[in-house]
Amino acid sequence: MRIGFIGAGKVGTALGIYFHERGYPISGYLSHSRDHAALSARAAGASVFNDYMDIASHSDILFLTVPDASIREVAGELAASADDLTSKWIIHTSGAYSSSVFPDLCGACGFSLHPAMAISDPYKAAGDFSSTIFTIEGAPDGAALFFREAGLNVLPIASKDKAIYHLACAVSSNFVVALFSWATDLLSQAGFGAEDARRILTPIFISNARSVAEKGPVAALTGPVERADKDTVGKHLSCLSDPSDRQLYRLLSEKLIRLAEKKNPSRRYDDLEESLWH
Ligand SMILES: NC(=O)c1ccc[n+]([C@@H]2O[C@H](COP(=O)([O-])OP(=O)(O)OC[C@H]3O[C@@H](n4cnc5c(N)ncnc54)[C@H](OP(=O)(O)O)[C@@H]3O)[C@@H](O)[C@H]2O)c1
Repeated sequence: MRIGFIGAGKVGTALGIYFHERGYPISGYLSHSRDHAALSARAAGASVFNDYMDIASHSDILFLTVPDASIREVAGELAASADDLTSKWIIHTSGAYSSSVFPDLCGACGFSLHPAMAISDPYKAAGDFSSTIFTIEGAPDGAALFFREAGLNVLPIASKDKAIYHLACAVSSNFVVALFSWATDLLSQAGFGAEDARRILTPIFISNARSVAEKGPVAALTGPVERADKDTVGKHLSCLSDPSDRQLYRLLSEKLIRLAEKKNPSRRYDDLEESLWH
């Protein structure tokens, strides 16, 4: 099965390196920029293609690793210009979109395969893929097995669940970035520069992430909300002058109270919850 890539960005390059290192034949890359296609092709021991017909005729599996907003258009152009796509696999790697984003693919099987990972460095990502979960959706028989045999951890997902699945991924990664940034801003109000703030917060952040990953959120939960310490929660609220920050603190604390009730079923959180909103 020769594997080709339309889109020589982070994900396309990482997948090309991964499959190349495991001995799978990589046909090559087609991208907006020929220079980017050439760099990725070199990393994956492959060729550069200039047109859809050429890359399609040299590939049995074609990854469309282009931005989400371009998947439909690129797939449409591919279907319109390729000679014969019958029984080829056309795969996009979007987390939010399902295979229904594909137009008619002229006999090809279109499906999605999403690495549940934030990818900024293709070489590092290729090394991490064997411990990453890939969700597969809309795939023909044999596709999940093919990728498992290539060493990937593949889990099926239904088309209707892709948006909520992607939301979960975003909450656990992007939203954490927003919270870290908020904490940095609060430390700047206490006179700490950005570098000192990062040095203060990083050990807390890393050890907490490790604890949540190893034990789960209920067992990992600590802090004033978990202890039902309404005086400290009151002090926190008095530091927040922006009404939207106060609201965010309250709403996140509500989520923590639900977890704390599971952790400490005999502890009462009614007073704390009442004081949060008054
Ligand atoms: N990065 C992540 O963390 C991550 C994780 C999981 C899934 N994904 C998904 O993976 C897909 C690719 O994301 P990415 O992060 O790899 O994006 P990216 O780094 O921005 O790469 C996208 C590539 O597509 C090329 N491209 C754009 N329009 C094109 C067109 N019409 N024809 C040919 N090539 C075109 C770009 O071309 P040039 O470079 O040649 O200009 C670029 O190299 C997206 O669906 C994304 O949602 C990303």
